Amino acid sequence: MKVFKHFMPTKTVFGRKTFLKIKEEIEQLKIDTDKIAIICGKSAIKNGYIDYLKKQFETVEVFSGVPQDPSVETAKEFKSKLQQFNPTAIIAIGGGSVLDLAKVVAGALKNEGEIEEFIGVPECFKNPTVPIVAVPTTSGSGSEVTPYAVLTNKKEWKKAPIISSYIFPVLSIDDPELTVTMPQHVTANTGIDALSHCIEAFVSKRATPISKLYSLEGIKLIGQYLPRAYGNPKDIEAREKVMLGSLFGGMAITDAGAGLVHTLAHILGVMYDVPHGLAIAMFLVPVLKFYGLAAEREIVEIGKAFGFKTENFETVLSEIESFLKFLGKPESLRSFGVSESDIGNFVSLAMAKRFLMGNLPRIPAEKDIRIIVENLIDTP
Ligand SMILES: [Fe+2]
Repeated sequence: MKVFKHFMPTKTVFGRKTFLKIKEEIEQLKIDTDKIAIICGKSAIKNGYIDYLKKQFETVEVFSGVPQDPSVETAKEFKSKLQQFNPTAIIAIGGGSVLDLAKVVAGALKNEGEIEEFIGVPECFKNPTVPIVAVPTTSGSGSEVTPYAVLTNKKEWKKAPIISSYIFPVLSIDDPELTVTMPQHVTANTGIDALSHCIEAFVSKRATPISKLYSLEGIKLIGQYLPRAYGNPKDIEAREKVMLGSLFGGMAITDAGAGLVHTLAHILGVMYDVPHGLAIAMFLVPVLKFYGLAAEREIVEIGKAFGFKTENFETVLSEIESFLKFLGKPESLRSFGVSESDIGNFVSLAMAKRFLMGNLPRIPAEKDIRIIVENLIDTP
């Protein structure tokens, strides 16, 4: 058996109404609550979560207005605002964008250098961050239990990853009741993102015996319950199971990394402002098809976790495609405005990430990326 490592320093509290215990959990960890900065988006305010938090702690300042897919500039703005307040802890409450932004800012506050200097540098932070408490309100990114954060660099059409074991939140509160207000398309997109984390980690060459457990259980939970949560937003049992699947997805990519689906989805996301999970939906099956025989055994196992009654990997792929279509996946990239003239950009931006491709079961050449994108422009 290969040597493997497993590192998960985040204390996770999972379950219905756990958000109401946040103060107790923070105190148990002896986090200094002298000055709490809350980072959030609009929905956390609208749903009353911020009012609740303000009542729990004495000195709280709210930093709201995190946009979807925050940019490097947004991270800089938040850093300078938070610098003046000088928080002892940060509570990030929202979707993946909010959690990622908070993780970057928490690190930047305690480390010398501009945010650009941390991008893409493994273990970019030398000092521990301001302690982060993550409260996800979507079930997708798994960011509450990962050492990753992704910003957007619109100028260069790139997603800008920050990777550091210091940006694991110290505490994550996964309360499925906070996810029931998600609109139907957000439920679908974020759930597909979580599913892709489980799948990409499972076919990764870095997959470990532990990450595989998380992957398969995550696929099982999301495969069974995401259609239910999508059909009935108030189905709390389904919400709970999908959130658990998303948590497992985060744990799986922490150990095993993501793959080519994420590389291509990031390019589509930056070029055409396509939400992350929706972009993932477009590439998930075409990339697995490209891996083909190199990941045949894994794809059959993925099919079993879904509960598909087949041992044939091509049938598994068409079943996954039907699953994604049920959740509203569009037919083609043309519907986002992508045309033949964009293929060159896709190829060069993807090949620039070639250094990240060591994990993949099959490493693509330029022509492979070209074929994947070309075939998706007008799916029959
Ligand atoms: Fe993702």
